[in-house]
Amino acid sequence: MKIILIGFMGAGKTTVGKILAKKLKIDLIEMDELVLKKSKRKTINEIFTFDGERRFRELEIEVARQLRDVDQAIISTGGGVVINKIILDYLREKNGRVIFLKTSFPEIVKRLKNASDRPLFKDEDKAKKLFGFRKRLYEEYADYIIETDNKNPRLIVEEIVKLIFI
Ligand code: S3P
Repeated sequence: MKIILIGFMGAGKTTVGKILAKKLKIDLIEMDELVLKKSKRKTINEIFTFDGERRFRELEIEVARQLRDVDQAIISTGGGVVINKIILDYLREKNGRVIFLKTSFPEIVKRLKNASDRPLFKDEDKAKKLFGFRKRLYEEYADYIIETDNKNPRLIVEEIVKLIFI
């Protein structure tokens, strides 16, 4: 069983991924963490500042390529993985099922208002444009869509488990 969580920054991929992995007793793989390790930088912000977004995207592709052989895990992706089709192609190999955690933009703003670790959320107007552009992509790649507004992570996990096992 390989479950791939996609969605915009602040959709809850990591939080939901942690609870889901614990519940199903399988590993959680966080792509951002693996990208960070490969980059030899200390933060995602640093990668964007010193190496640039293009380099960050290259590292994401490399990480996805290395995950092709994984056949059991929850994979929490970065919000931008959908901009390079090859990433989802790699992740979906070996029966990966893609779940889109769908969150409205106002809800994302609420959740991220104090976060400083998102280089692409520094300017709300720009982030909104990005959101508009990516929305269609998340939907296109999703096998399942779960709305997350006004739901706590445990409820979202319950919904995912039902979707997958029923
Ligand atoms: C990004 C989302 C971030 C991280 C990087 C770029 C994006 O991950 O990969 O800052 O392009 O949307 P989260 O979705 O976990 O915030």
